Amino acid sequence: MQAASKNSLSTLVNHQVRLAARPVGLPHLDNWQFTTEPVAEPPQGGMLVKNLMLSLDPAMRGWMNEGRSYIAPVGIGEVMRAGGVGRVIASSNSRWPVGTYLSGMLGVQQYSVFDDRSIPRSALAPIDPQLAPLSSWLNALGMPGMTGYFGLLEVGLPKAGETVVVSGAAGAVGQMVGQVAKIMGCHAVGIAGGADKCQFVVNDLGFDACIDYKADSVRDGLKEHCPDGVDIYFDNVGGEILDIVLTRINMKARIVICGAISQYNNTTPVRGPANYLSLLVHRARMEGIVVFDWADKFPAAVREIAGWMQEGRLRSREHILEGGIAQFPEALNMLFSGQNFGKLVLRVGDE
Ligand SMILES: NC(=O)c1ccc[n+]([C@@H]2O[C@H](COP(=O)([O-])OP(=O)(O)OC[C@H]3O[C@@H](n4cnc5c(N)ncnc54)[C@H](OP(=O)(O)O)[C@@H]3O)[C@@H](O)[C@H]2O)c1
Repeated sequence: MQAASKNSLSTLVNHQVRLAARPVGLPHLDNWQFTTEPVAEPPQGGMLVKNLMLSLDPAMRGWMNEGRSYIAPVGIGEVMRAGGVGRVIASSNSRWPVGTYLSGMLGVQQYSVFDDRSIPRSALAPIDPQLAPLSSWLNALGMPGMTGYFGLLEVGLPKAGETVVVSGAAGAVGQMVGQVAKIMGCHAVGIAGGADKCQFVVNDLGFDACIDYKADSVRDGLKEHCPDGVDIYFDNVGGEILDIVLTRINMKARIVICGAISQYNNTTPVRGPANYLSLLVHRARMEGIVVFDWADKFPAAVREIAGWMQEGRLRSREHILEGGIAQFPEALNMLFSGQNFGKLVLRVGDE
């Protein structure tokens, strides 16, 4: 076993956040259990990872629910599932030597132990902190970036000159969608909550326009900023905004159903799109996506996006919280009130 220091490993404790009960509506403290346990020595062929940053994702709310989805729910009493970046600090696996930086499913905890079976199940990938800061590996070069990139390019199928509208535009996925739309020569219009976010989307990310749905009419904003109609709508929020955009789509429009954050904490049934017959009238199509379907193509996408970042054509904005594991419950809920400004990341360990 290769280890940073064997003696120091035996004294390490792991602070964790586990799912205590399934929430109804917005999660609250009673849904979580804080536990502390000694760090287990990794088995032969396994490794121990010190977690450095965790990704806060709207999808976590869905993982807390019982029922069938694209991934099994987190079990009661289990460490909450979370993507993250970390560093290998002990290993007897030659593919993952001590010192390797990686991303993958690490869980809401300070240390993650992997054996030779959990390594392939945890979507682990080596990352290069010289290429981009660690937090960007959870954003533009990570899962949300892959979602925006593949969802737009492979399902939205943008053509130069077309109009792309994206909701949640200042967030992790939305940033990528609008910036790639611009790189593809499209007219990019964001929808986001608040003047600061809209200014960022236009001035820093280079979108053509942004509609502040909290202050202004989305219907009027679309008329003003999408005078030729909407060819692609990349939907991150669902609900009323989806319905309004459906009234402005063009013939053969593509609606990418990426998420519906406005509906995740509903205690009543999800609001479906009342205006769906617009799809019929405009011979348009609406298609759901799950980012993991493109996993085999992630390395090539990371190379292309990193190249755009180095050329100054694409930015990755993260909102990094410093509060450690204990801040997780409060941090997760920030996503549902729009308190995050960029990809929300929680630092849980020092390098
Ligand atoms: N299908 C997939 O494979 C996949 C993968 C990753 C993410 N997603 C989905 O993509 C969407 C965006 O995820 P993200 O990680 O990029 O999150 P994010 O946009 O960084 O953060 C969430 C944002 O959602 C907005 N929001 C919250 N409540 C809202 C409401 N009621 N109405 C409208 N907007 C609301 C807030 O922005 P404002 O301040 O602008 O309101 C908030 O900042 C989510 O729906 C997520 O589930 C899907």
